[in-house]
Amino acid sequence: MLLRKYLKSFPKLQNVLTQKRLAQDYLKVEVTGESLKFPHVWLRDNCQCDACFHRSANSRFIDWSQFDLNVKPRDVSQDANTVKVIWEDGHKSSYQLNWLKFRSFTPESRKTYDMTIYKPTKKTWNKDTFGEAMAKFDYTEILVSDEILHNWLYHLSVYGVSLIQNTPDSDKALDAILEKVAFPKMTHYGAKYTIQTVANNKTNSVAYLPKKLQLHTDLSYYEYGPGVTLLHCEVQAEGDGGANLLSDGYYVADYMKQHHPEQYKLLIDTEVEWRNIGIENGIEFFKLHRSPVINLNKHEELSRIHFSIPQRSSYFPVNIEAVAPWYKAYTTFLELNNQYAAYLKTDPGDILVVDNLRLLHGRNSYEDTTSNVRKLNGAFLDWDEIYSRLRCLTVKLKNLDTIY
Ligand code: OGA
Ligand code: ZN
Ligand code: ZN
Repeated sequence: MLLRKYLKSFPKLQNVLTQKRLAQDYLKVEVTGESLKFPHVWLRDNCQCDACFHRSANSRFIDWSQFDLNVKPRDVSQDANTVKVIWEDGHKSSYQLNWLKFRSFTPESRKTYDMTIYKPTKKTWNKDTFGEAMAKFDYTEILVSDEILHNWLYHLSVYGVSLIQNTPDSDKALDAILEKVAFPKMTHYGAKYTIQTVANNKTNSVAYLPKKLQLHTDLSYYEYGPGVTLLHCEVQAEGDGGANLLSDGYYVADYMKQHHPEQYKLLIDTEVEWRNIGIENGIEFFKLHRSPVINLNKHEELSRIHFSIPQRSSYFPVNIEAVAPWYKAYTTFLELNNQYAAYLKTDPGDILVVDNLRLLHGRNSYEDTTSNVRKLNGAFLDWDEIYSRLRCLTVKLKNLDTIY
């Protein structure tokens, strides 16, 4: 009593002690010879009984206004497969041991979960290791086999690039692949679009000219930018023209961090305005999005690359003295991407699939004549949908029932 009164005059110390006590409020559970700890508050929060968890909605069903953050077990019992807890208010919870183990808070378990369920770890590459990064998949196999569909999406998430071959000669063929994942990402170009030279230079996109397309990410001017670009080659230009250039922007960002740290910092700190103004199918659009070239998440990991020369706004939302140094860093980034990029010329029947938040892609110029045409069908997918499909397939193929 006296101690409590004494502590009251030191609210900070009291706070620290309360935090410490709360952190020690956990249950120890023996699972296959391992002693795992689970906080009481987390266990009660994740009670799996029908009153607390709605099975078919797969969702927590607790009225949070009634939730006791200081909840304590009155009684705990364990058998070979289950831990049963009776809480102080009499509520009963039961947890399968393998369900608990899957959610263990140990660093090793969290890493395993991240890699198997959350997102596979990315591996960066450059033109010398492109052979390992670029895997080829068969169109029909992706459509008929869950395992191949899983492998394709897994590979795409790790390396950011893949090629689907033997696609039927039809501008509808891409639809089946998009539907196998989920649905296409809609943009002002529609759910799908055609990349073909437009006559008389009258185009709303420089991609529809036979000129070289410098390395870029697609639709940088979208805040919710398309995660993945799919380019189905229906007709390819003859000769050298029309080949694609591919660079792993994450590789180059890492390289810049090591070798040009000051310029790297400018590329992560300086907000650029990406822009596209035009009219498509009779509907006007005016897109603006501000973002640095290199984006990091809260763990300081790379999360998105924005890069475009044609679709960078002439309005630059920075202090005047920041302008010239930024241009230098931007140029270094492009030069390095060109230096480490791989060439690939797709054949009719190929779908080139590219992580658009990570890779930069470009295209050689080609000669467009009546006897040398080129036609690609383009579409986008979002990473939300790709990771979702990948997780569903992982759970199914590996029988990971503990996820539920
Ligand atoms: C594009 C593009 C590639 C190609 O349209 O944005 O990158 O091979 N096209 O035409
Ligand atoms: Zn319950
Ligand atoms: Zn593009």
